[in-house]
Amino acid sequence: MQFENEHFSKADFGNDFCWGTVTAAFQVEGAVREDGKGASVWDVFTHKRGKIKNGDHADVACDFYHSYEADLALVVEMGFTEFRFSIAWSRILPDGKGEVNQAGIDFYNRLIDKCIALGIKPWVTLYHWDLPQALERLGGWKNREIIHWFSDYVVICAQSFGDRVKNWIVINEPMAVAALGYTTGLHAPGKRGLWNFLPVTHHLAMCQAAGGRILRERVSDAYIGMAISCSHIVPYTNAVRDVRAAQRADAVMNRMFIEPALGLGYPSDVFPFLNGIKKYMLPGDAEALQFDFDFTGIQNYFSITVKHSYLIPVLWLKEVPATLRNVPVTAMGWEIDTEGTYKILKQFSAYKRIRDIIVSESGAAFEDRLVEGKIIDADRIAYFQQYLGQVLKAKNEGINIRGYLVWSLMDNFEWAEGYRARFGLVHVDFDSQRRTMKESGKWFARFLKN
Ligand code: NOJ
Repeated sequence: MQFENEHFSKADFGNDFCWGTVTAAFQVEGAVREDGKGASVWDVFTHKRGKIKNGDHADVACDFYHSYEADLALVVEMGFTEFRFSIAWSRILPDGKGEVNQAGIDFYNRLIDKCIALGIKPWVTLYHWDLPQALERLGGWKNREIIHWFSDYVVICAQSFGDRVKNWIVINEPMAVAALGYTTGLHAPGKRGLWNFLPVTHHLAMCQAAGGRILRERVSDAYIGMAISCSHIVPYTNAVRDVRAAQRADAVMNRMFIEPALGLGYPSDVFPFLNGIKKYMLPGDAEALQFDFDFTGIQNYFSITVKHSYLIPVLWLKEVPATLRNVPVTAMGWEIDTEGTYKILKQFSAYKRIRDIIVSESGAAFEDRLVEGKIIDADRIAYFQQYLGQVLKAKNEGINIRGYLVWSLMDNFEWAEGYRARFGLVHVDFDSQRRTMKESGKWFARFLKN
């Protein structure tokens, strides 16, 4: 892989381009029972046997709850000016609704104030998958009441932090919640069954727009976005049935949450199964699904190749794994196809009503080795160089890409993968909590200085 021979510099992205790193509350904070925090679905899920690789849990994680000051200093050291983090709903409202926990608000106030003192702009994600367990007991995302619960929570966050936080992401990767949390059960709350998929999807899409409206009303000068997981999708052959399979995958993986927000409805044109959502829609929902987001957050980690399959009901398709196609993969087994990034940026920018695009997460896990106090993660550096090259190409063709946020500031709890998959620019020794900046972090420091 190439090293240090990129043909572009920071200046090519323009002076107003935002450079940042990202974390999420459950993946880094730890302190899961501290200062009045209520349990989240992930607190419960991680303590069920067999759900997380290696039996890992996130009770301590990166201990960011206590080490945030030193960790923010690393953000500065690498030259980033933006820091995206999420708020744990159950720190603010331990039961998900009702009584507010002031100690939770105080923590995020300290974090936000520290960012600002260091010259870092805070970007707040309101929901990064850690639903309060008390709400899951009431049906969680399956219960339409969540539109009220979520709205009340957003109002509290807007009122508490909106004077200082201007950049907001309402829901992180809603498709992951619907597909992994409530359909395959690989993520918390571990619910399985296709019948969950449609109501959960609809309630997430409703909350995405409702959250946007609340922020618009209550936060002056807010810059409001969604964060969509997306992948360039390739049909395995040109046969009509494989092409149709790719269209269905595209509907679910890429179009499902952006199109209702843009007023285009759910993508049932290529996937009639989605017509079933109508059963969960009330009069007025088609309008309520819409919100004019300031930016669309693109989170593209891999491309996928699919083919028709009679073995998978409803979707009638299966992925042709990267390993069978002899293409490079990351430690997650995800296909490295940075050109796919360019293609997905093109695909999203083709929507007429889309405004700015922010790459709101980008990164890769590799098998890092700490040798004599160093992590020489040449693969990760090459990944970022190639990925950024594709972002720049798209930007130079006129796509309104305004920022690039790296997943992640540091190694952290990678959901069902536990701590095995390391995505950080900073290495974390989870026994000692020692941080070591990887060569990729140093590469960014040099890149961003120039
Ligand atoms: C996207 C998710 O938002 C984040 O939580 C996760 O760790 C990364 N992808 C890597 O899988």
